[in-house]
Amino acid sequence: MSDEDLEDELGIRPGAPIDSSKAVYIIDHMLGEGGFGAVFLVHDEKNKDVQYALKVEKKLDTRRHSKLKMEIAILKAVKEFKGKSGKDNDRFMRHFTDIVDRGKKEKYFFLVMQLVGKSLADLKATRPNKIFSIGTGLGVAHQCLEAVEGLHGAGYIHRDLKPANYACGPGTKAHTIYILDFGIARMFQKRNETGGLELKTPRQVVGFKGTVRFASLACHRNLEMGPKDDCESWFYLLLDLVVINGLPWRKESDKKMNWPIL
Ligand SMILES: Nc1ncnc2c1ncn2[C@@H]1O[C@H](COP(=O)(O)OP(=O)(O)O)[C@@H](O)[C@H]1O
Ligand SMILES: [Mg+2]
Repeated sequence: MSDEDLEDELGIRPGAPIDSSKAVYIIDHMLGEGGFGAVFLVHDEKNKDVQYALKVEKKLDTRRHSKLKMEIAILKAVKEFKGKSGKDNDRFMRHFTDIVDRGKKEKYFFLVMQLVGKSLADLKATRPNKIFSIGTGLGVAHQCLEAVEGLHGAGYIHRDLKPANYACGPGTKAHTIYILDFGIARMFQKRNETGGLELKTPRQVVGFKGTVRFASLACHRNLEMGPKDDCESWFYLLLDLVVINGLPWRKESDKKMNWPIL
């Protein structure tokens, strides 16, 4: 959405208050923008120093399921999974933001979450050659993979792993990487009659979802995706972080893969 749309249509502009049943949040400025809305830095009306990130999704008649609803469900599932599975899981769960609040207005849904730092895409852009050193890149990518392992453990695949969907932590947590954006994530397991977990039956044809540069081969082939596709995208992410000039196919925008089947 453009800044004008957000301001004119939704009334979201610097200084504007957004209230929930719990608190009033004041918009400071935009942190990032996507196709269906945007993320803003906000502060608590009662205390300027209490800051959060507020993600907005415009209501659309054409969309059956709100993406934000999905994001909230996933963040909750991950945290509940953490509760069930003991202390060691903090290694995975430290990579997920906390949900602070949520709500809906006439024209949009919103999610208030823990504020993190800059995205890996933004951080990378400021480095020499626009890449991280091998040491930094490997360390960062290792944490990115830990986050994915946690998500898979809770039964979801992400399907849009890329540097813009990871960020470093705020302040003293600058060395922790956070995973963001579960807008197109999907549950890949289901409970069977005996209560055990099994894979969902794959659909025959699946529309392209995600970002061309980081999409797995199966995604380009319109096949059902699973945890291995996140792993493949993670590998492309790793290369994108450390290789000068990035991935060889970075300029491709074709969602359909026209190469021979390997
Ligand atoms: N909790 C947060 N704290 C700080 N910045 C954030 C936070 N969540 C998202 N952002 C910023 O906003 C951008 C877009 O957020 P994202 O969740 O990826 O939404 P979209 O679905 O629009 O891609 C991110 O790339 C990041 O720069
Ligand atoms: Mg995103």
